[in-house]
Amino acid sequence: MNKKIAVIGAGHVGASCAMYLAEANFADVVMVDVLEGMPMGKGLDLSQAGPVRGYNAKVYGSNDFKDMKGADIVIMTAGLARKPGMSREDLLNKNAAIIAACGKSIKKYCPKSTVIVVSNPLDLMTFHMQNVTGFPKNRVLGQAGVLDSTRFRTFISMELDVAMTDIQAMVLGGHGDTMVPLTRYTTVAGIPVGELIEKKRLKEICQRTAVGGGEIVKLLKTGSAYYAPAAASVDMCKAIFFDQKKLLPASAYLTGQYGIKDIYIGVPVILGANGVEKIFELKLSKGELKSLQGSAATYKEHLKIMGY
Ligand code: 2OP
Repeated sequence: MNKKIAVIGAGHVGASCAMYLAEANFADVVMVDVLEGMPMGKGLDLSQAGPVRGYNAKVYGSNDFKDMKGADIVIMTAGLARKPGMSREDLLNKNAAIIAACGKSIKKYCPKSTVIVVSNPLDLMTFHMQNVTGFPKNRVLGQAGVLDSTRFRTFISMELDVAMTDIQAMVLGGHGDTMVPLTRYTTVAGIPVGELIEKKRLKEICQRTAVGGGEIVKLLKTGSAYYAPAAASVDMCKAIFFDQKKLLPASAYLTGQYGIKDIYIGVPVILGANGVEKIFELKLSKGELKSLQGSAATYKEHLKIMGY
């Protein structure tokens, strides 16, 4: 194939991204990681699954960033993951250094790429990546809202015992415990979820969604979720690659929308060949807006600590 997707980091999230990408069979996939031999081993293993799974995309690993050369899309997954008791913000300093190093390589080897950031703390690392690469802001975005929304969809499906694919949901805000599941924009085959689940129970499901990442960290004990984060990243990658103009939540750079500017945070966007092609400004309730603006204010404080 003559198109290439680069995945930085061949840990659980990176390798799961490579697997879903290979199965989707639309571009070659290179996984780059600094751990000696590990990305090559996983790449070879995934390649050897191809004849059985029916894909022809080349999948390979490398310890050398120059093997990302010419990638059309880069998925940035490298970084430390949370352990039980940690917040995503606890990862700030270490992951900021990793973003700085990888961002320089992206700029050098894939200057025309669109970058999807998955490393945590997500919204801050996306801001940092845009700064390090100097890429146009529409070509650097963060994956979080699709993950948070798919968690919400899953919990609703479990509650009602209906097909997961019948559920459409929108979760906005920072990728943290203050995210904002928008129940009035959440439907089951077009029926507003509020008609099907009573208010108190729906509130509990929203709360479970907000701490959904932490629930998995507690269960795994040694790291954080990876299948759903990878599936969400690949969904966004496809929207860009195939110019699907998908409306989905992503961490995007705001310039005054929702009364917020100069930070990245999760909002509904149109995702297509030009990355973030449009940002939608929904009418939020006072509480929702307060929560969104509250996360934004916290992020500004963190950015100061990072030297911005
Ligand atoms: C999560 O929410 C890792 O942030 C990611 O699971």
